[in-house]
This record gives sequence, structure tokens and C-alpha cells, in this order.
Amino acid sequence: MKPTCYDDYAKVFDLYSNVELFPQNLRFVEVAAGLIGPGDRVTDVGGGTGMFTSELLERVPWIDLTFVEPSPAMMEIAASRLPLVANLVHAPLDQRLLADLPPQRLFLFQRSLYSFHGELAQYHALARGLAARTVDGGHLAIYEMPGPYDLELAWEYYSLHREVLGITEEALIETWPVMEAAFREFNAGIAEGRYTLFDRASLDAVFCPAGFTCTHEEGTTFVYTKG
Ligand SMILES: C[S@@+](CC[C@H](N)C(=O)[O-])C[C@H]1O[C@@H](n2cnc3c(N)ncnc32)[C@H](O)[C@@H]1O
Repeated sequence: MKPTCYDDYAKVFDLYSNVELFPQNLRFVEVAAGLIGPGDRVTDVGGGTGMFTSELLERVPWIDLTFVEPSPAMMEIAASRLPLVANLVHAPLDQRLLADLPPQRLFLFQRSLYSFHGELAQYHALARGLAARTVDGGHLAIYEMPGPYDLELAWEYYSLHREVLGITEEALIETWPVMEAAFREFNAGIAEGRYTLFDRASLDAVFCPAGFTCTHEEGTTFVYTKG
């Protein structure tokens, strides 16, 4: 979602991204870690609170990481979680920022690509900018959102697994409205065309003309490789 949506949401973001309930996020990190070697430049685009970035750094501590996050609330949490990361960029990824980056081995878009634009034309420009800043044989790793949320189902799921979240019923009832508002904004953004949900065909349509080929597909995880 847009960076301004995270002012309240940042406080409960990690809680509701629980890796036991959503192991596919960690699986994405494993896939990403398998793409990089020592010293490789990696940019995490829309890294949020850095929860999964720190999981990546546990697996591949020797990468040269740039962490890009425009939301102040998310970045504040990430900065305290990633004290050893020198390149924390508190700005959106745009063509100007891309032009300043040295060529990267990997760009990560974990749950962030959908939020950039409502129009594919803008994604075509983004894809060209990314291609210009990706080394030959380098990659884009994309973890796409599965689709709009069913709020009733989501509430049932979290209530049922409250103990996995490690919080009391009162804490769940207190924090849920923030999560629910975020889900509603996501659904509205998709319905109103402010956000773009991708599938394999639309990712191919955007990234293949820019010189990438899909080299891995697993659920909503996609890897595009340059050249
Ligand atoms: C759902 S969060 C995902 C955070 C993290 N990658 C994760 O999976 O936990 C999406 C993030 O993308 C960021 N974002 C939105 N637009 C962006 C842009 N133009 N450039 C970089 N990040 C952006 C938001 O601020 C937010 O922190």
C-alpha cells in the first residue's frame, strides 16, 4: 500500500505477518537467498519493518544490501532492526533513485510491487529502469499478493490462531481494527485501480520486453532473470 497507510499499521505489521501462520514469506526468503553469492549487491524494495530482510541477512550475511523504504513508521522499526545495514534509503524507489544505484545482482519485491502504480504503462518504465540497473544474469525476486482479502475469513483465521500470535484476546480485539483497515485499503486500492495485482501473464508482459525471463515460479513467488 502507499507509504502513508503504514502510520498505524506499522505497529501491528509484524504481529500479523507471523511466519508460522504465513510460512510462504520465509520460503520466499529461502528462494532469494539461493540466488546470491558473497559480495553481491542486493536491493530490498519496500522492505517494510525489515522483518524478512533480517531473515535474509541471517542466511546470506555477506551481501552488500541496500534497503529502500519510504514509510517513516516502517523505516523507524527497520532501522532499529537492521543496525548494521549502511545503505538505508528512506525514499520510494523511482527512476532517480534507480539511476543512482550501482548495478545490482538482485532486486527484492516482497509484497511491495503491487503498490507502486495503478497502470501497467508505469510498470513498463519501472521494468526498463530495473533492467538498466541489474547485472547480466541478475534477478528480480517478486512475492506477489495472492488477491483481495475476505475480511470475515481473515478474522476467523487470526482468532483461531491467536495463541500462535502469542497475544491475549483483549490484545487481538484491540489491534484487529488497524489490521482490518489495512485490509480494506488494500481491497479498495485493487478495486479502484490504484494498485495492480500481478499474475504470471501480466508479470511476463511487463518484465519480458525489458529483457527478463521468468526462471522460477512457485505459488506467488516469481524470479525474473536478466539475459
Ligand atoms: C506490505 S509491505 C511489505 C514489507 C516487507 N517487504 C514484507 O514483506 O514484510 C509493502 C511496503 O512497500 C512500501 N512501498 C510502497 N510504495 C513504495 C515505493 N514506491 N518504493 C518503495 N517502497 C514502497 C510500503 O511503504 C511498505 O512498507
